Amino acid sequence: MNNKNAIGLDNEKSKHLSAKLNELLANYSIFYQNTRGYHWNIKGEKFFELHVKFEELYNDLILKIDEVAERILTLGHTPNHNYTNYREISQIVESVEVSDGVKAVENILESFKTTIVLQRDILNLSSEADDEGTNALMSDYIREQEKSVWMYSAFLDK
Ligand SMILES: [Fe+2]
Repeated sequence: MNNKNAIGLDNEKSKHLSAKLNELLANYSIFYQNTRGYHWNIKGEKFFELHVKFEELYNDLILKIDEVAERILTLGHTPNHNYTNYREISQIVESVEVSDGVKAVENILESFKTTIVLQRDILNLSSEADDEGTNALMSDYIREQEKSVWMYSAFLDK
C-alpha cells in the first residue's frame, strides 16, 4: 500500500493530477480577476445587464477556485496560492482592455474554451487513476461551462 495515498489512489498518478489541477487553479484565478475587472469597468447601454452577469460569474469562479484547491489537498498535495505562479502557468492571460462589454464577453468565451479543454484533459487523467472524486468535479464543471458558452454566444448573436 506504500504506493497509495491517504484515499487509496496511486501516488504518482495523484501527483501528476495535482499538477494539472494547479494549472486549472492558476487559470481560474486569472479568469476570476479578469471578470472582476469587467464587472467594475464596462461601460455602455448593456452596463446593468452585464455588470450583474459578471458578478454572477466571478462568484461562481471563486467557489470553483476553492473546490479545486481543496481537491489538490485531498489528493495529498499543495495548491499554489500566489499570482506570480499563476501568471507563469496560466494559459489565460490578464486582460488589459475591460471597458467594452462585447470584448469582455469574447474574452470570457475564450477563457471558457481554455478551462473546458483543460478539464477534459484532467478528466482523462482522473479516469485513468480511478479518481471518481475528481471525475465528478470535472464533469460538473464541463457541463456547466458548456452551457455558459451557449448563453454567452447567444448574447453575442453567434
Ligand atoms: Fe460589485
